Amino acid sequence: MRGEGEGIRCFKLFHTSIFAVLILLQCCNRSLSLDFNNISSGVVGHWDIAKVPKVIRCIQREKEALLALKRDVVDYDSILSSWGSEAQKQECCIWERVYCDKYTGHVVKLDLRGGFSLGVGSIPHVLGNMSSLVHLDLSANQLVGSIPHVLGNLSSLVHLDLFANQLVGSIPHLLGNLSSLAILDLSGNQIEGGIPQSFSKLCNLQELDLSNNTLSGQLSWLLQILMSACPDQNSLETLNLEMNALQGVVSESHFSNLSRLTYLGLSSNSLALSFNSSWVPPFQLEVIHLGSCKMGPHFPIWLQTQKNYRFLDISNTGISDILPSWLWEMMSHYPEKREYVSIDLSNNQIRGIIPNSRFEFPSSCFNRVNLSKNQLEGPIPSFLSKASSLDLSNNKLSGLISFLCPDKVSNLAYLDLSSNNLHVQLPNCWTNFANLVILDLSNNALFGKIPTTIGSLFSIQTLKLNKNRFVGELPSSLKNCTRLVVFDVGHNNLSGMLPEWLGVGLPMLAILILRSNHFYGNIPLQLCNLKQIQILDLSINNISGSIPKCFNNLTKLTEIGNSNLTIHHKYGGDGLHSWGGIYEDEASLIWKGVMSEYKSTLGLVKSIHLSSNQLTGEIPNEIADLVGLVSLNLSRNNLTGQITPKIGKLQSLDSLDLSNNQIHGTIPTSLFQISGLGKLDLSNNNLFGRIPMGTRLQNYEPSAFAGNPLLCGIPLQQLCSPKETSTEEPPVFRDQVEDNDGFITPGFFVSLALGFVVGFWGVCGSLMFIRS
Ligand SMILES: *[C@@H]1O[C@H](CO)[C@@H](O)[C@H](O)[C@H]1NC(C)=O
Ligand SMILES: *[C@@H]1O[C@H](CO)[C@@H](O)[C@H](O)[C@H]1NC(C)=O
Ligand SMILES: *[C@@H]1O[C@H](CO)[C@@H](O)[C@H](O)[C@H]1NC(C)=O
Ligand SMILES: *[C@@H]1O[C@H](CO)[C@@H](O)[C@H](O)[C@H]1NC(C)=O
Ligand SMILES: *[C@@H]1O[C@H](CO)[C@@H](O)[C@H](O)[C@H]1NC(C)=O
Ligand SMILES: *[C@@H]1O[C@H](CO)[C@@H](O)[C@H](O)[C@H]1NC(C)=O
Ligand SMILES: *[C@@H]1O[C@H](CO)[C@@H](O)[C@H](O)[C@H]1NC(C)=O
Ligand SMILES: *[C@@H]1O[C@H](CO)[C@@H](O)[C@H](O)[C@H]1NC(C)=O
Ligand SMILES: *[C@@H]1O[C@H](CO)[C@@H](O)[C@H](O)[C@H]1NC(C)=O
Ligand SMILES: *[C@@H]1O[C@H](CO)[C@@H](O)[C@H](O)[C@H]1NC(C)=O
Ligand SMILES: *[C@@H]1O[C@H](CO)[C@@H](O)[C@H](O)[C@H]1NC(C)=O
Ligand SMILES: *[C@@H]1O[C@H](CO)[C@@H](O)[C@H](O)[C@H]1NC(C)=O
Repeated sequence: MRGEGEGIRCFKLFHTSIFAVLILLQCCNRSLSLDFNNISSGVVGHWDIAKVPKVIRCIQREKEALLALKRDVVDYDSILSSWGSEAQKQECCIWERVYCDKYTGHVVKLDLRGGFSLGVGSIPHVLGNMSSLVHLDLSANQLVGSIPHVLGNLSSLVHLDLFANQLVGSIPHLLGNLSSLAILDLSGNQIEGGIPQSFSKLCNLQELDLSNNTLSGQLSWLLQILMSACPDQNSLETLNLEMNALQGVVSESHFSNLSRLTYLGLSSNSLALSFNSSWVPPFQLEVIHLGSCKMGPHFPIWLQTQKNYRFLDISNTGISDILPSWLWEMMSHYPEKREYVSIDLSNNQIRGIIPNSRFEFPSSCFNRVNLSKNQLEGPIPSFLSKASSLDLSNNKLSGLISFLCPDKVSNLAYLDLSSNNLHVQLPNCWTNFANLVILDLSNNALFGKIPTTIGSLFSIQTLKLNKNRFVGELPSSLKNCTRLVVFDVGHNNLSGMLPEWLGVGLPMLAILILRSNHFYGNIPLQLCNLKQIQILDLSINNISGSIPKCFNNLTKLTEIGNSNLTIHHKYGGDGLHSWGGIYEDEASLIWKGVMSEYKSTLGLVKSIHLSSNQLTGEIPNEIADLVGLVSLNLSRNNLTGQITPKIGKLQSLDSLDLSNNQIHGTIPTSLFQISGLGKLDLSNNNLFGRIPMGTRLQNYEPSAFAGNPLLCGIPLQQLCSPKETSTEEPPVFRDQVEDNDGFITPGFFVSLALGFVVGFWGVCGSLMFIRS
């Protein structure tokens, strides 16, 4: 979502400038930035901006207004430090961010775009005195309150930018007096209502961006107002109304006079578009954002008349139709008009095959195609491998050989083919995919060995091959994928020893899921090097030997909580803009016996799952150092020994399953001091003695303790004998218990207190945790 938002923003940058190169240079050179402003002024109006020589003094009234403005705002980042009333600061035309007309000395441009650096009660009314302003930019600050009516006095205003503030109220009708206004950007505020009728006087309005507000009412009414401005020569080019609460049905008549429109953004409202199938729109759009508008069931035929678009979002629009073959051909027209292409048809019921096309993606790293959540079938055509982000997940696609073995280097940074019908052997053709950051092939029927060239994915961070039919060993070439953060090969038929290189070559690994395969052998000590690991799932394999004592070297698990709720990666982009996308990892885990998907809280899910193996020996005391653990599942092994009393240190624990082992001894009292422990299963072991009374924040089922014949007390039916009532722990273990008292240090009490906080979260939070 955020990535898309950035995309829109950046697109607008491109839209207002013809010279993309200048944008790049602008970042490095301030003098060039002035030139750039001059060029953009050529688009919206004409005035000469210059840093005025000493002879021309700025207008007293305007200087006072500027000084009053400075007094009115809180200047967090001191962006107004050059403004002042001192003698040497009298010349307001040389103040930072102030631009005067070369001849008249009037302030014509005020560029107070902040990095959220200006805060204030409201936009200062004193701005109404800056009557010559042509360009006013107060965007990306922390301005609150409503838009002051006095802005309607700035009769020369051509460009007004107030986006990304916290402005509320209706747009003042006096803005309709700004007859020169060409660009009005109020996006990213909390502006309500509709637009005032007076906007029908804005004959020069080219760009209106009201996206990401809380506008309501009928869209048809709003369009009527905009269209009645100079109906014969309506100048509107950009209409961006996405992410509001607009309603109603609009038809072709509501667009009949908008012949210059190039950017139409209506996504994420409550709108229905009902266009006649033979409609020929009066405009040629470049950007089409209609996501979540209801427009099915037929594929919109009028798109066939649009030859210039590079951005098409008709996701989630109720289309239930065959994918037309002309779609890509339309984009083959005028390739020079496209710096990049973004196509989103996801979340519809689009059927048929994706025909191969001669369409060539522009040479950029921002091309995106999203056809996910449809009913597409057949092979994946090879031309799509030239996109940089491709999401074809949740379809019925069946072939990928020609797609995966392209003749030249692929631009793909993001490839999601999960949940399709891919029933083939994965070809050994990965050497051309060195740009790939995210690869998800999960939930298909891929078979054979994991090809060795997968090791040439040098940029890969997320690799998901789970839920397929892969056999054989993990190729050791994978150790070359040193940036791997998420590696999931769960639910396959893989075998072989657990490789040592997993712990040596992949230092960034945060999620390692080998669940439900046929891996065997000991857990290699090298795994203890995974300092970033948060989820280690080796369950349902044939792993034997003991649990390594060095698990307390898994640093991330020894830290409580996490500052990152999600595990996310940036992909694509060119290093200059963060224009590519942000991917939030997702993982499925068995949580309290139920397979659950985690995404928005994945960063908090710290777990070790080793269940259903053949592990032997004692549970090492060191496991109690993993105080960040939220879930620990060692069930269905052959573990022996006792539960260490130190177990109470695991104050973050929400779920503990030690069932179906041969653990003996008594249940340590400290276990019940883990106040957030929601799920506990100790059944089918050799535990004995009284079940200790804990804080009783939780009531466990008898089944949590069943299958331990010598265990007694609540909640079991079996009452304890008087002997067991009088002695907390059996005398045999007295020494050991006393030794272990050493762990009750001040630190323990701190962690206990923390535990209550975490525990509250554990009880209440575990509900929000599960995104099922
Ligand atoms: C602005 O552009 C005009 C015409 O293109 C040019 O004559 C003028 O010198 C430029 N002003 C500045 C400050 O660059
Ligand atoms: C605008 O300027 C006039 C004259 O200098 C002054 O009297 C008035 O208070 C100013 N308006 C505001 C809102 O500051
Ligand atoms: C705005 O203009 C109106 C007249 O159109 C005038 O009465 C008022 O004083 C002006 N306000 C400012 C702040 O200049
Ligand atoms: C501003 O617009 C209002 C109506 O929207 C009108 O009554 C008023 O005369 C206009 N003022 C000027 C200075 O044009
Ligand atoms: C919407 O606007 C708010 C406030 O400016 C901003 O925080 C948020 O990121 C915007 N959302 C999008 C998707 O641009
Ligand atoms: C569109 O323009 C025509 C004249 O070109 C005008 O008659 C009609 O009223 C306009 N439509 C709207 C909705 O303003
Ligand atoms: C669609 O437009 C055609 C030609 O303008 C017209 O004959 C037909 O009645 C229209 N259909 C609908 C449903 O409005
Ligand atoms: C593709 O669209 C689906 C559904 O609209 C969305 O969940 C997914 O995040 C999109 N993929 C990408 C890579 O943006
Ligand atoms: C790993 O990468 C190096 C070069 O970085 C290469 O020489 C080596 O062959 C690769 N190993 C495998 C197994 O692919
Ligand atoms: C565990 O960490 C310690 C100190 O960081 C290190 O000396 C030791 O070798 C590590 N053990 C293993 C098995 O990685
Ligand atoms: C949070 O995520 C960022 C970006 O992925 C990463 O750089 C940072 O180290 C993470 N912080 C923690 C505490 O994991
Ligand atoms: C695990 O314990 C069971 C029952 O005691 C025994 O049959 C089995 O051989 C043991 N397995 C291993 C690997 O020790």
